[in-house]
Amino acid sequence: MKIVIVGPGAMGCLFTAFLSKSKEEVWLLDKNKENAARINEIGISLEGISGAWQAKPRVTANVQDIGKSDLVLICVKSFHTKQAVEQVKPLLQENTKIMTLQNGIGNIEIIAELVGEDKVIGGITNEGATLIDIGRIRHAGRGETIIGTLNGKAPVEIRSIREIFNKVGLQTKMSRDIKSLAWSKLIINVGINALTAITRLPNGKLIEFEGTKRILRDAVTEATRIAKRKRIKLIYDDPLAKVEAVCESTAANISSMLQDVLRKKHTEIDFINGVIVRLGQELGIAVPINKLLVDLVKTIESSYR
Ligand code: PAF
Repeated sequence: MKIVIVGPGAMGCLFTAFLSKSKEEVWLLDKNKENAARINEIGISLEGISGAWQAKPRVTANVQDIGKSDLVLICVKSFHTKQAVEQVKPLLQENTKIMTLQNGIGNIEIIAELVGEDKVIGGITNEGATLIDIGRIRHAGRGETIIGTLNGKAPVEIRSIREIFNKVGLQTKMSRDIKSLAWSKLIINVGINALTAITRLPNGKLIEFEGTKRILRDAVTEATRIAKRKRIKLIYDDPLAKVEAVCESTAANISSMLQDVLRKKHTEIDFINGVIVRLGQELGIAVPINKLLVDLVKTIESSYR
């Protein structure tokens, strides 16, 4: 199987490194020519929970180097998904699957609109990673990856992908309801990401202070109300308990949104709390805490200039 990972950020490097342990042909696509050349030369270095090790994938900035592929894993920020999918179109053939494990809501829809629903594999991952430098990451947390198709069926391609992921140590299973999965992960990101980006605290600290604990609870309650109105069944019974448990299990993590803010990068706020604000307006449900979180993160983004 020819596998292409798009995007050299923390998750892109993590999945590229693990998949490079397989006997499959693995490529990392980095749209920045200089960075691609650099990672090609030095490889990907990992430290952290899976130990200190190195991977030597094929890296390019040019899709023509890769040729037709079987699996394309989109690991760019959500606001670059459309551009990334346009870029990989030359790699697609009849049975190629495009997979997204990105945070937030909207990526599956963007990919499906560009290439058709039958090509999309959606899902979530509870692996955690931090980008330290070009091609250098810290593997910060281990967790399950869950994948599925939009129609809930499990064609042979997705079963092969699951097998490859499991063989290289990425614990992976399948779900028939990826919408429910995406929303279940969204609720976690709604509670953690913006609050850590604003306070600059690691995940675990959010539940140690009264103020952040209360804001986290209110943000999660608003998001859960929206999910309920949309008749989305979450994969856990008590969303707040789940988000607090994730804060504990990823206590030392610098959330992806805090990593973005620290590096003065555009965040995924529109695909996380922004989704709750938009749906709140559409459905006539008050979501003041999510609105406040969006306004504050956007203010931080504006202040970079
Ligand atoms: O975006 C992130 O950082 C992660 O999805 C999570 C679960 C919040 C852990 O840091």
